[in-house]
Amino acid sequence: MSPMLLECDAVSVRFGGLAALEGVSFTLAQGEILGIIGPNGAGKSTLFNAITGIYRASAGRMRFAGTELNGRPVHRIVELGIARTFQSSRLFADMSVLDNVVIGLHTRTKTGVLDAVLRYGRARRELEDAARRAADLLRTVSVDLFEQRYRRASELAQADRRRLEIARALATEPKLLLLDEPSSGMDDRETKALVRDIRTVCKERSDLSIMIIEHDMSLVAELPDRVMVLDYGRKIAEGSFESVRALERVQQAYLGGATAHA
Ligand SMILES: Nc1ncnc2c1ncn2[C@@H]1O[C@H](COP(=O)(O)OP(=O)(O)OP(=O)(O)O)[C@@H](O)[C@H]1O
Ligand SMILES: [Mg+2]
Repeated sequence: MSPMLLECDAVSVRFGGLAALEGVSFTLAQGEILGIIGPNGAGKSTLFNAITGIYRASAGRMRFAGTELNGRPVHRIVELGIARTFQSSRLFADMSVLDNVVIGLHTRTKTGVLDAVLRYGRARRELEDAARRAADLLRTVSVDLFEQRYRRASELAQADRRRLEIARALATEPKLLLLDEPSSGMDDRETKALVRDIRTVCKERSDLSIMIIEHDMSLVAELPDRVMVLDYGRKIAEGSFESVRALERVQQAYLGGATAHA
């Protein structure tokens, strides 16, 4: 049995009278891929925001490699080894593909690459090293992306932009990677390529754990080891994709939601 990397216990996030998350408990093992599904507004992104310190949990505990996450600032959580992508793109549109990844590396370099970029000349060797590592990382995530490394991020196709966000998140050398709807805006072919790319990354970094929020049921059927279903802020099911999708209450949650394509 692999050690538990993340243990969430009765986590709630409330906004005034609204419980965006209510008493959600689950664990994630090292090297595991957990899928998170549920209708719009179910609390999926809220869970990521709580884990990464953007929202503070109103109740419950979240232990990551033995450290309590709740109440810690975002940068500290990145340092602990949690990285994420967002539902909507947060790339530096005017910077090159390569530099977007270099920025991600700055939490892992001594001088701080961001600082070095600003005062160019200083710490040049570190910067060159970072550029090399960023290029390697791009190659790992997608050769296609690597070949476009000198283009501006804004010039990339939507699917490549999403891939670049994953590469940038990986630059912080996370133990846990949170992906919020990475296939949004992708067609079937691009989604299949994304699954292949994520598998390649997992092969390179065998201890990496992933939580992936997805509406694309073909991806959910294929990639995660296990799936957790949220509805109105509560966990309503957990298990293999096949087992949870057979459940009456899961089908009910999706009725009228029009987001399930399974
Ligand atoms: N900062 C906030 N302030 C107030 N309400 C919020 C805030 N963030 C999220 N919510 C509410 O919490 C609920 C859960 O939202 P969340 O974004 O987590 O849903 P989701 O499952 O990610 O949905 P989607 O599939 O549409 O992305 C929604 O009702 C949302 O309006
Ligand atoms: Mg969301």
